[in-house]
Amino acid sequence: MNNSSYTLQPSDLHIIINLCRIMNSALHHEPLISKIMQFCTEAMEVEGASILLYDAKIDKLIFYCSTGDKSDQLNKIFLARDEGIAGWVFTNNEPALTNNIQDDPRFAARVDQSVQYTTRSIIATPLNLENRTVGVLELVNKNHPDGFTARDMILGELIAEHTALAIERVKLVQENISNSRLAAIGETVAGLAHYIKNILTALEGSAYIINSTITSDKDYRLVERQWPIVHKSIGRISALALSMLEFSKDRKPTYSHGNVNRVIEELHELVREKAAQKNIEIYTSLDSSIPDTYFDPQGLHRVLLNLLSNSFDACAGITDAAISITSRCTTENGIEVIVSDTGAGMPQDIIDKIMTSKLVSTKGSKGTGLGIPISRKIINEHKGSFDIKSVPDKGTTISLTLPVLSSPAV
Ligand SMILES: Nc1ncnc2c1ncn2[C@@H]1O[C@H](COP(=O)(O)OP(=O)(O)O)[C@@H](O)[C@H]1O
Ligand SMILES: [Mg+2]
Repeated sequence: MNNSSYTLQPSDLHIIINLCRIMNSALHHEPLISKIMQFCTEAMEVEGASILLYDAKIDKLIFYCSTGDKSDQLNKIFLARDEGIAGWVFTNNEPALTNNIQDDPRFAARVDQSVQYTTRSIIATPLNLENRTVGVLELVNKNHPDGFTARDMILGELIAEHTALAIERVKLVQENISNSRLAAIGETVAGLAHYIKNILTALEGSAYIINSTITSDKDYRLVERQWPIVHKSIGRISALALSMLEFSKDRKPTYSHGNVNRVIEELHELVREKAAQKNIEIYTSLDSSIPDTYFDPQGLHRVLLNLLSNSFDACAGITDAAISITSRCTTENGIEVIVSDTGAGMPQDIIDKIMTSKLVSTKGSKGTGLGIPISRKIINEHKGSFDIKSVPDKGTTISLTLPVLSSPAV
């Protein structure tokens, strides 16, 4: 097929304009790439589109984002760097168009077999960035009896160029987020060191008593008394180390299918006793029509526990203090969880710092300032939203939303 046999026509312009619009519309990484894929599936009139990216660590091409009926299954498949048409395009850095796939010696039937699909026609174009081929864009099964044309090939290459740029942009945004999280830890090293020093002081005290018990008076009742302090201190240090790791590293939620209300109920059970001891009323208001969705239950548990522990701190010493956890469906096919307290509240400058991933820990808090940043990170990883409203001396309301997903997000 000769590309030069077709020149772009004014009627093709809408595809290019729409592509540019999408490129400028979304800053967030995966929505941008999946928007491009969705758009090109419709605009190119194909059954499905996929991006395969090369992973040098395992020397394989990975289905990174796909549309069409088989997208969920495809996202678990790996190809050898030279396997199939995608592998050929990747290793030769040349586009390929074929309308009789079963006669094409480059075609690898393995993927079709494993997802139970019949590929008839393919356009595959390399994704190039600064003279490097980073992956392949594949358009599969043209919804037209004549299959793909030279026009499709030119438009496919154009879309591939934009997709490569989008992937680069996504990488830069990710690096930027990652760097600012590390910078936030750097900025508060003094605060973290202070926290560690306090724990060490407790540990040193216990170690001294345990040591003198062993070496001189042999009164082991003292050891029994010191042991819980040692235990608790080790727990606090290791929790801090885990939190720092969790905050600095990029990770994806460990999705499982379930209902957000169950996590809230478990948590309510967990903190009910503590609330009663502190004379704080705690209640839930759960919308039973909330649909099941894919989310990370441990991640959400962690977020809500962080928020509740802040609410407990904020309610300390306040009469008739109350904390509520509410769940409800949002109008945008999402689930909202609201944690509200009638505690001390916080001023706007603290909210501003928290919402820019700064680590803040004010007097009265028993934490390190990592609670909210980690919670926001977990919710962002779910592509949800996190919002704080607070009035000093009145209380705080934190609202988080999660999208309702019918399959784990890639
Ligand atoms: N519910 C709340 N009410 C009042 N202040 C809050 C509340 N939640 C968070 N804050 C403020 O935000 C700060 C940061 O919270 P967080 O990130 O969880 O750190 P930490 O609890 O370790 O101090 C707290 O120190 C506190 O000043
Ligand atoms: Mg906290």
